[in-house]
Amino acid sequence: MGLLGYSSLLMILGFIGTGKISSSIIIGIFNSKLKIKRIYISSRNRNIAKKLEKKYRPVKIIKDNQEIIDKSSIIILGITPKVGNEILSKLRFPKNKKIISLISTIKLDRLKKITHNINIVRATPLPPIEINKGPIVIYPPSKTVKNFFNHLGKVIEVKNEKLSYKFWSTASLMAAYYEILKVSSDWLIRKGVNRKIAYRYISELFLSLSQYAQQKHFKGFKKLVADSQTPKGLNMQVLNELKKNKFFNNFTKGLENINKRVSK
Ligand SMILES: NC(=O)c1ccc[n+]([C@@H]2O[C@H](COP(=O)([O-])OP(=O)(O)OC[C@H]3O[C@@H](n4cnc5c(N)ncnc54)[C@H](OP(=O)(O)O)[C@@H]3O)[C@@H](O)[C@H]2O)c1
Repeated sequence: MGLLGYSSLLMILGFIGTGKISSSIIIGIFNSKLKIKRIYISSRNRNIAKKLEKKYRPVKIIKDNQEIIDKSSIIILGITPKVGNEILSKLRFPKNKKIISLISTIKLDRLKKITHNINIVRATPLPPIEINKGPIVIYPPSKTVKNFFNHLGKVIEVKNEKLSYKFWSTASLMAAYYEILKVSSDWLIRKGVNRKIAYRYISELFLSLSQYAQQKHFKGFKKLVADSQTPKGLNMQVLNELKKNKFFNNFTKGLENINKRVSK
């Protein structure tokens, strides 16, 4: 018996939708110690599916979504809400199969209804799962799903669905976060720094700040903000300017608006 409650060697995964996040999970699996017997993927997206099949021997493309379900023990839904609402009710999900839904805005009750299956867990992996990093929020708690994703990142089990939406909001900061890195790096480049050095410097800077925060978690973020400022120093100046221009108010507004969208 493996860590997953049954031998992970016997695990057969089926992906409905082979887009960005499904492919990140698959790449993550092959960068981890997980042993998977077979991964069936749908032919959509065609280019991504072809690349994955070519690169990893256990990966096989199957065109028919129902056949993927029938041949797999765990089915992962990597489709958009629109496609989910269109296709899921037309598919048959046998009761003994576990479903992991990555779909952002279809709630658990509706998923159960349209799949006629109660064996469903919602999960929010993010692209750094490729390098086996990052938080993965799952709801409802599930030993099998937790053990699976713990090989690929850090699982946070949430017992309350409404609370799980809050993490969808913070997970939506990815693009805004990278925009901060981009703006900082572009600024350095405009000031004459070589592009590669700017990239290396900025990614290293933000990585070190996050790692420091992770290791000094007992300090709390408020203390880290305070400790990063010398009175009347440079950090204090930038922070105050951003506050004055309502940068953080708008930031919180963005989180609230996503919360409204995913809680509907
Ligand atoms: N990207 C992320 O970081 C992330 C993180 C967590 C959760 N999610 C959620 O995961 C879901 C997928 O996101 P994504 O970013 O991976 O989107 P995506 O790249 O657009 O992938 C969606 C995939 O679904 C495929 N598809 C469309 N119709 C299909 C059908 N009838 N049968 C099978 N596959 C079909 C698309 O294929 P075609 O290209 O051929 O149409 C595409 O490959 C979304 O609900 C999203 O909210 C995403």
